[in-house]
Amino acid sequence: MRRGSIASLVGIGVVAGGIAAAVALAFPWLPKPASNEAGRIQPLIWFVIIICIVVFAIVIAVILYSVVRFRAAPDDDSDGPPVHGNTGLEIVWTLIPTVLVTVIGIVSAIVLGRNDALGANVLRVDVTAQQFAWSFSYPDANGLTSGTLRLPKDRSVLLTFSSKDVIHSFWVSEFSQKQDVVPGMTTTLHITPNRLGTFAVICTELCGLGHSVMRTQAIVMSPAAFEKWLHGQAKAVSSPSSGVAGAAVFKNNQCGACHTLKAAGTSAVVGPDLDTLPALAQGAGMPLEDFVRQSIVDPNAYVAKGLPHNVMPATFGKALSKQELDVLVQYLVSSSKKG
Ligand code: CUA
Repeated sequence: MRRGSIASLVGIGVVAGGIAAAVALAFPWLPKPASNEAGRIQPLIWFVIIICIVVFAIVIAVILYSVVRFRAAPDDDSDGPPVHGNTGLEIVWTLIPTVLVTVIGIVSAIVLGRNDALGANVLRVDVTAQQFAWSFSYPDANGLTSGTLRLPKDRSVLLTFSSKDVIHSFWVSEFSQKQDVVPGMTTTLHITPNRLGTFAVICTELCGLGHSVMRTQAIVMSPAAFEKWLHGQAKAVSSPSSGVAGAAVFKNNQCGACHTLKAAGTSAVVGPDLDTLPALAQGAGMPLEDFVRQSIVDPNAYVAKGLPHNVMPATFGKALSKQELDVLVQYLVSSSKKG
């Protein structure tokens, strides 16, 4: 190869690599990590990206150089010279990718191993996904259930996932981890939050009509604030005031993800507006309280005109305790009458 050819190959490679590196650095592609695990995953991502940029630069240099240097003249219809491979070149382009992939594999295995290692005093959270809501229950706090994922900072958290219907996927961008939630099996994810804040929990598996609204929040709190919240919640659900308890059940079961209810400050429009329950009950020809109870336990028994069937989960009748169902019905009846 002539010296000039090598110089132009290197020149094109440097320019292509420079452009790719500039694109990689110009935008904040990754969120600021909020967990120890994300703090290990993100450097790994950059490690792989740097390798990709170098490979990209080499490939672009060879392609552009070949296109220009070996371009046939417009009137040249002759065949190209027969080329029968180059053993030296083939060994090189087999060995280099083998080494690269092996190194990436080893570094990834180390990161995965560290991320899976639970710390002391693990907080267990059972996560239930259903169309179209998340609920989080804390088995060490008498199974207290919440519609938002509250976590203490700097403590090992083991999430155990189950789905009531179809495949969903749990994702918090700042935690840099994703976990499928599959009916019929349990999956787990280990997170050690290390930054206070509120982050979006997003379903990343197309799971039906309300997939895009299947969101909630992960709130990382100081350990003291977390303990205070745990105890306060346990009290609210068993509150003798049915209004307070009903509001807690409404919130914990994420009814507001699909329904509007002024009293709860929610405005979603996937399901019927719950402030219009009295009119809906009239349409169904039922007393308000019976109608509300039936619509929660057996949602497909009566569906108002123009609304789709099988969107509201038919699982609440089993999921809610009798007391929870009673206070929820009372809460909806009294709130919708005011609304
Ligand atoms: Cu659940 Cu998408």
